[in-house]
Amino acid sequence: MTDQATSHTSRIPGFHKLPVEQRIDHVAAFANLAEEHRRQLALASNIDTQLADHMIENMVTTIAIPVGIATNMRVDGRDVLVPMATEESSVVAAVGNSARQCYEAGGFTTSISGTEMIAQIQLLGLPDPARARLIILERQSEIERICNACDPMLVSLGGGFRDLEVRRVETPSGEMLITHIIVDTRDAMGANAVNSMAERLAPDLAAWTGGRALLRILSNLADRRVVRARATWPSTAIGGDDVRDAMIAAYHFADNDPYRAATHNKGIMNGISAVVLATGNDTRAVESGAHAFAARTGRYRSLTSWEVTASGDLAGTIELPLAVGLVGGAVKIHPTARALLAILQVKSASDLARIVAAVGLAQNFGAMKALATEGIQRGHMSLHAQNVAFAVGAVGDEVAEVARRVVAQSAINEEAAAVVLAELRRAAP
Ligand code: MEV
Repeated sequence: MTDQATSHTSRIPGFHKLPVEQRIDHVAAFANLAEEHRRQLALASNIDTQLADHMIENMVTTIAIPVGIATNMRVDGRDVLVPMATEESSVVAAVGNSARQCYEAGGFTTSISGTEMIAQIQLLGLPDPARARLIILERQSEIERICNACDPMLVSLGGGFRDLEVRRVETPSGEMLITHIIVDTRDAMGANAVNSMAERLAPDLAAWTGGRALLRILSNLADRRVVRARATWPSTAIGGDDVRDAMIAAYHFADNDPYRAATHNKGIMNGISAVVLATGNDTRAVESGAHAFAARTGRYRSLTSWEVTASGDLAGTIELPLAVGLVGGAVKIHPTARALLAILQVKSASDLARIVAAVGLAQNFGAMKALATEGIQRGHMSLHAQNVAFAVGAVGDEVAEVARRVVAQSAINEEAAAVVLAELRRAAP
């Protein structure tokens, strides 16, 4: 354990050069991890077969994804080490580098709109949808009672039914009446809670209105669970006004062209999904919510915004729905997810969501800066070169040397790497 580890700073110069065991020591000391979590981190293998078999159907094996720690993150005044599960090289390093460049300026400031989820109930075959809509709205107190009775535990934790919306939607199958129940699911992602309520309520809605209930399911456009993060990067810390202005032009491109916005937002999701996956949350729920939110104006746009402040610095913001939880599902039972959550030291799902949003902003900063300056291939390819070296059988020190030589030759492919590896081995004493 080092002094840095005990001083609770996420600034850990040289972290990437430490052997894996020492990185674990460092993280364990930083987050004061329980021995069981520390042991689990050291098992960079699969989860127990019995548990995996229990989690999904027809299980035959598991697939391990590397988890890296993003350093330099400071969120709402607290230093955090952020676990990120990803198969893509450069993603973890980009977050740490981006966060370092705004660390001295205060890091990330976040807020959250709430922890409410929406479930939808579809009613068909109503000749009088305007009247039916009001009949449902008049029953709000009764609906509240029915929903809350489905989940007394959630209610005891301060959650439960919050609001009711009834929307008329024109479709090629005719007009439909869509009821939204809005439920505060607190520290749970909430899918099970709201789906159970919707299924329980649907027959009543049908009986009250004379309609036919069909779908009863949550909406992943969780726009009552919107998380925001902002940070300011001093122009001097990022290489000057030219870099700043190039990044602004990169953002304007994304915000005005869906072809570019899709890639720009994919980069943001590189960071977001990596933390969501590491913490055992549902990456697809978060991804569909993010992309639907990006298109909420009718045009698919950037999830971030970038501006120049009065003092000439670069200010970034991100805003997106983040339905993540700390209880239930894989979060609860996956031992590695639990150990990784312990590193984050969060007390609520909101705290987790705030960190996730900050990572998304940092990731976007890193991608835009690379793209607007030297391009992403140089950094990307040197890491890719290591993967190529592995693929042709390099081991130990050979990996870095083969990677270095194929990068120097600008020939990052398996044929070149195999030739270099053979040369290296011939030359070895
Ligand atoms: C690659 O995984 C992500 C980027 O394409 C994101 C972007 O273009 O902004 C680099």
